[in-house]
Amino acid sequence: MSSRLVIRGGLVVTAADEIHADVLIEDGRIAALAASGTPAAEAFTAERTIDATGKYVIPGGVDGHTHMEMPFGGTYASDTFETGTRAAAWGGTTTIVDFAVQSVGGALREGLDAWHAKAEGNCAIDYGFHMIVSDVNSETLKEMDLLVEEGITSFKQFMAYPGVLYSDDGQILRAMQRAAENGGLIMMHAENGIAIDVLVEQALARGETDPRYHGEVRKALLEAEATHRAIRLAQVAGAPLYVVHVSAREAVAELARARDEGLPVFGETCPQYLFLSTDNLAEPGFEGAKYVCSTPLRPKEHQAALWKGLRTNDLQVVSTDHCPFCFTGQKELGRGDFSRIPNGMPGVENRMDLLHQAVVDGHISRRRWIEIACATPARMFGLYPKKGTIAPGADADVVVYDPHAEQVMSAETHHMNVDYSAYEGRRVTGRVETVLSRGEDVITEREFTGRPGHGVYTPRSTCQYLD
Ligand code: URP
Ligand code: ZN
Ligand code: ZN
Ligand code: ZN
Repeated sequence: MSSRLVIRGGLVVTAADEIHADVLIEDGRIAALAASGTPAAEAFTAERTIDATGKYVIPGGVDGHTHMEMPFGGTYASDTFETGTRAAAWGGTTTIVDFAVQSVGGALREGLDAWHAKAEGNCAIDYGFHMIVSDVNSETLKEMDLLVEEGITSFKQFMAYPGVLYSDDGQILRAMQRAAENGGLIMMHAENGIAIDVLVEQALARGETDPRYHGEVRKALLEAEATHRAIRLAQVAGAPLYVVHVSAREAVAELARARDEGLPVFGETCPQYLFLSTDNLAEPGFEGAKYVCSTPLRPKEHQAALWKGLRTNDLQVVSTDHCPFCFTGQKELGRGDFSRIPNGMPGVENRMDLLHQAVVDGHISRRRWIEIACATPARMFGLYPKKGTIAPGADADVVVYDPHAEQVMSAETHHMNVDYSAYEGRRVTGRVETVLSRGEDVITEREFTGRPGHGVYTPRSTCQYLD
């Protein structure tokens, strides 16, 4: 039995176009588009019509960087795949790519199996996995080939967190060489963790224990240095490189320079770096702990370079790095020692709205909003055109977005399983109204109508941003 649905009268916005069009959905996929009011559109017949007059009709967001239930600093990120994907849907995101973690001494396969077990049957929206490679050896290099073949086509490495997730330059080079052969994409956490650990120890010895010192020791220059080193290692290996959570203007400059040289290097930033700053980290009464993440928030002056990078395509993607820890009982583990504050911030529900606010504020165009939040992450991680666009044949992952509705972000009203909002009290224009995932309702006129287990694991092809 076929099911047909038509969304009429909205402004369809993709990375490529803006057109007033009706969208016909059949059996979970986009079947056709036609300019509203034309005979072609009138000819669409369906059991159900959604009126999107005055609204945008956009592809569901693709968040290429989340950490549901991630173990960190002796605790776990507070969103499960169930709560985190539900919150993502509330915020107009219909696909996440989460990070499976290799335990030190363990096989990649074990880590991947563990992440499948956490996610399977629990997700409201579709999901894929990257693999965190924390231990590069001859076995894990072989496993990388197998993972690429089965749709885990990207691997995160850490130049930070010595003794935990850290890889040295030799391990990084080997993994990059392997990726150059098997088509995998190396995603780099670029901070010089060895140098940072020295500065952490010195700061604590001076009695500098407050959250704001997290920002001071994780210096912009040490992000830039690591970014530079990662770029050159990738160049030597002949591999493409994707630098995650870029926050420092000096790191953007390294990416811009490499791209001017013609190298296939890409950068992601996150809403927290675009909208928050070290002012938040310095909030009194340990409130700054809410904003502890790595790379850290930077002084406000860095934001202009990030916005510029997004406009000039020196930065290509905005993901959330959603890694929430409750203030009570989790962030509090670091009272008296900022280095014990679990690193990470909530945001999977806020990304599409904050970036729409950036459209309202004139930082980016409407099409660029969809490009950095939907289309490019889908291409970068091998999900396009199934995800990231509205075109015949694509999955009907569609958001009806009200660009005029006002909302105030707050922990009182958000759906993430965390006891604070990083954007508490922030007023933004624009709000998700209805969300479809493969043609099925997940949010219907601001009611959750989805279910855990609707979302399925989605294997990915290799990076499509290189062609
Ligand atoms: O602070 C962060 N970003 N936590 C999540 C882990 C990572 O490095 O992405
Ligand atoms: Zn219009
Ligand atoms: Zn990271
Ligand atoms: Zn992360």
